[in-house]
Amino acid sequence: MSVEPQLLIGIRGMRAGDVPAVLAIEEVSYGYPWNERIFRDCLRVGYRGWVATDLDEAVVGYALLSVAVGEAHILNLCVAPDLRGQRVAERLVEAMTRQARADNAEVLMLEVRPSNKSARRLYKRLGFKRIATRPGYYPGPEGREDALLLSRRLVDLA
Ligand SMILES: CC(C)(COP(=O)(O)OP(=O)(O)OC[C@H]1O[C@@H](n2cnc3c(N)ncnc32)[C@H](O)[C@@H]1OP(=O)(O)O)[C@@H](O)C(=O)NCCC(=O)NCCS
Repeated sequence: MSVEPQLLIGIRGMRAGDVPAVLAIEEVSYGYPWNERIFRDCLRVGYRGWVATDLDEAVVGYALLSVAVGEAHILNLCVAPDLRGQRVAERLVEAMTRQARADNAEVLMLEVRPSNKSARRLYKRLGFKRIATRPGYYPGPEGREDALLLSRRLVDLA
């Protein structure tokens, strides 16, 4: 019998003790990774965080969300390289969506690099639409790169 890989993944709230494991994934995933202080500050100021864990309770992915005045913003979403392509990020986006709705957010938003094909496929599949471009938002090896601002409505328009 085969089991869907993502069913073996658990999702729970991020704790301060998760930061070293989160940082290890962050550093192999981004050209310009966040440092430890940024993660700790996010938790300290009350942003919501989640981790995805495997059967051994090891952290294999994480997400951070801020919610303010009706808008929820995905600050970070990342899956360990060897677990990618198994819809782990989708589970993390589901957790953020539930929280955002509970906090009465009307939209869920995020920035993504135009060059980030995997992330763009994921967000398209989950119904995010491009609403704006933020010029020169990200650092890059050949100068700054724009960000695409994507959004998904969480409540139906009347
Ligand atoms: C973007 C990211 C979070 C997606 O996580 P994931 O759990 O692999 O998501 P999915 O399984 O839904 O796969 C998304 C897309 O990745 C691609 N993909 C599939 N297998 C893959 C693999 N083994 N390795 C890399 N990418 C793969 C596919 O194009 C897939 O889209 P498809 O299912 O429509 O074919 C993950 O690639 C990641 O952590 N990237 C580095 C950090 C990052 O860019 N975060 C997003 C910032 S906005």
